[in-house]
Amino acid sequence: MSLALINIKQLVTVSAKGDRAKIGKSMQDLGIIENAAVLIDNSTIKWIGRMENLSMSSLKDTDVLDCFNKIVLPGFIDSHTHLVFAGSRENEFAMRSSGATYQEIAARGGGILSTVNSVRQTPKKELKKTARKYLNQLLQHGTTTVEIKSGYGLDADNEIKMLEAITELNSEEVISIVSTFLGAHAIPPEYFGNKDGYVKLIIEKMLPYIGKKNLATYCDAFNEKGYFDANDCRTILTEARKYGLKPKLHADELSSGGGAELAAELDAVSVDHLEHISDVGIRALAATGIVAVLLPGVSLFLNHQYAPARKLIDQGAVVAIATDFNPGSCMSYSMQLMMTLACTQMKMSPEETIVASTINSAAALNLSETAGSIEHGKNADLIVLDIPDYKFIPYHFGENHVWRTIKNGVILEF
Ligand code: NIG
Ligand code: FE
Repeated sequence: MSLALINIKQLVTVSAKGDRAKIGKSMQDLGIIENAAVLIDNSTIKWIGRMENLSMSSLKDTDVLDCFNKIVLPGFIDSHTHLVFAGSRENEFAMRSSGATYQEIAARGGGILSTVNSVRQTPKKELKKTARKYLNQLLQHGTTTVEIKSGYGLDADNEIKMLEAITELNSEEVISIVSTFLGAHAIPPEYFGNKDGYVKLIIEKMLPYIGKKNLATYCDAFNEKGYFDANDCRTILTEARKYGLKPKLHADELSSGGGAELAAELDAVSVDHLEHISDVGIRALAATGIVAVLLPGVSLFLNHQYAPARKLIDQGAVVAIATDFNPGSCMSYSMQLMMTLACTQMKMSPEETIVASTINSAAALNLSETAGSIEHGKNADLIVLDIPDYKFIPYHFGENHVWRTIKNGVILEF
């Protein structure tokens, strides 16, 4: 099966010229080809170039998608979500709008634990049904690869139920899904006052099973006061490595806790949130190349401060953006909205936000060799946007600009 995309006004390749990510000033360079075409063979990109160099006679047995002068980008990669969940928390949202904070609501038994309560009562089949609806929306909004975390089960059966749902969805749905085990998301009620007992459960019961059944690629932990301290995270993430799960961290979100430094010590693949990262932490990320995954939707939704994207980029860290889609701290899966927030609130340029949503997000999932840019040999995951210039994505906000999503070389029908 082959497919040609023709009459592309701007082909935004986001080529990193073989590097896994783009840093510093190179984030301004989107590798744009004007008046372009793309040839896809099966699910792989075979050729990219200018229309005048495309031989129309070579398209005999090829399906042709006329892009009518629209804009083509790599599919977005959302490298941090909690997309599998049950229930909703609009009441907490309303409480915050009248002054309550995220931490106060959590202390009253709301927050993560309220979703844990719902997930524990929901069969896997139902979790998958709800998730499928969202996954379809993600594709329509241009996301072709998504990472999904467990972390709303917080006991062996329910964490495994979540990870099985995520793993099964990956083989059943067209979107690519990366699975992350987040048993260390919060302390479940049955272990209040006995955090060590819960860490022991993760290590002795959950990780061996998850490792044996191959239910996750990454292991994440929430490093925060009242949740898991550096020692807990160190113990869990070191143990996870023995089962082949690579480390990620939720860190420096609600307070500055040396999370980025801990990520460097543990050689994590990414460290996410970072609203309160220290200057030492920024230098540690720049020195190690660990991806800083910034989640501006959380800052908007919780009315918290934004991560210092400018400092991170200017000092040479690898910066990605993601949604954190979940019912408590960011009820949005729109990467396009995250790009607007990144520009207006974190002072990133439109070009930097595109890099941060594509090739650098691929780096946060160790997928740069196959995804994140439009280059010969990479997966044919592309989106066609109905806008006059790529800068319209963050500029004309609150709008879905995606006209067509192409996943593995197939034009999706919705
Ligand atoms: O990434 N910070 C911890 N966990 C989630 C919030 C999940 C929730 O509130 O349900 C986050 O923001
Ligand atoms: Fe998160």
